Amino acid sequence: MTVLVAGATGTVGSAVVRRLVAVGADLRAGARDLHRAAALLPAGVPVTRLDLEDAATWPAALAGVSRLFLLRPPDVARASRLQPFLDAVVAAGVEHVVVLSVQAAGRNPLLPHRALERRVEATGLAWTHLRPAYFLSNLLTVHRAEIRDRSEITVPAGEGRTAVVDVGDLAEVAVQALTGPGHERRAYELTGSEAPTWSEVAATLSAVLGRPVVYRHPGALAFLRRARCTGTPGALAAVMTVLYTVTRLGLASRTTGDLGRLLGRSPTTLRRFVEEHADAWR
Ligand SMILES: NC(=O)c1ccc[n+]([C@@H]2O[C@H](COP(=O)([O-])OP(=O)(O)OC[C@H]3O[C@@H](n4cnc5c(N)ncnc54)[C@H](OP(=O)(O)O)[C@@H]3O)[C@@H](O)[C@H]2O)c1
Repeated sequence: MTVLVAGATGTVGSAVVRRLVAVGADLRAGARDLHRAAALLPAGVPVTRLDLEDAATWPAALAGVSRLFLLRPPDVARASRLQPFLDAVVAAGVEHVVVLSVQAAGRNPLLPHRALERRVEATGLAWTHLRPAYFLSNLLTVHRAEIRDRSEITVPAGEGRTAVVDVGDLAEVAVQALTGPGHERRAYELTGSEAPTWSEVAATLSAVLGRPVVYRHPGALAFLRRARCTGTPGALAAVMTVLYTVTRLGLASRTTGDLGRLLGRSPTTLRRFVEEHADAWR
């Protein structure tokens, strides 16, 4: 039973690959850039070229695959662009697709993630939708430099609360769905058990790092201007502004018990995540 992981060089895809390796699964990592994948992934992982929009890469990547981990790549705004790949997935005899979606997909039919979920459902294959909250690992990627270099975190979220999730926990659930029974036709809303405000995030960083980390919360327009000055790509800045405005309005705070139930333990907390990764901001 070979598991193919699309986007294996990404934050979630690479975590899923590492977890599959840890449980001894038969896997294939799909990546657009083989050199990048080889540098990032554990030695010995079989890597195949896979571009979800390049049909030439599909036959070799999909041969003999029964389970697929699929994401909506960040720059694919229209799920229809992935339909030819889904047709190839069906033709190749894949049995089950685990979709990396987003928490709000169950409530917002306009999200491209929901559009992808619906297209996967329409294939007739078994599916599992993973709908995660805000990744704690964003503190290690988009927010890392400002925390490390300026001891500040700038997010236009006011005092809104954000449900968060650890990508390691998310990968653990992804691997359960990819390798075990009982997850067919299920959608999981995956959050940790807390939804901190950004003041609380800054306070946790301050306590663990032993230096004050200041939370700055400009309005949406000021945030966009600042992002332009610091060289953040326009599309990313726009997505972040929408996301953090939703948070400011109190619409991103919902936590659920799905993750803890699936893990059989408490999800990773903000405090533990910051402690484990403290060196990244020092
Ligand atoms: N960040 C959050 O807080 C959050 C929360 C919930 C849900 N999500 C969702 O999670 C998804 C992003 O996951 P992530 O954080 O793991 O992304 P990521 O770190 O940005 O990685 C994206 C991956 O997709 C690959 N990719 C891009 N275009 C591709 C294509 N045409 N064909 C094949 N692979 C392609 C990239 O490959 P290269 O290395 O070649 O670029 C990379 O491996 C998005 O749908 C996002 O909305 C994010």
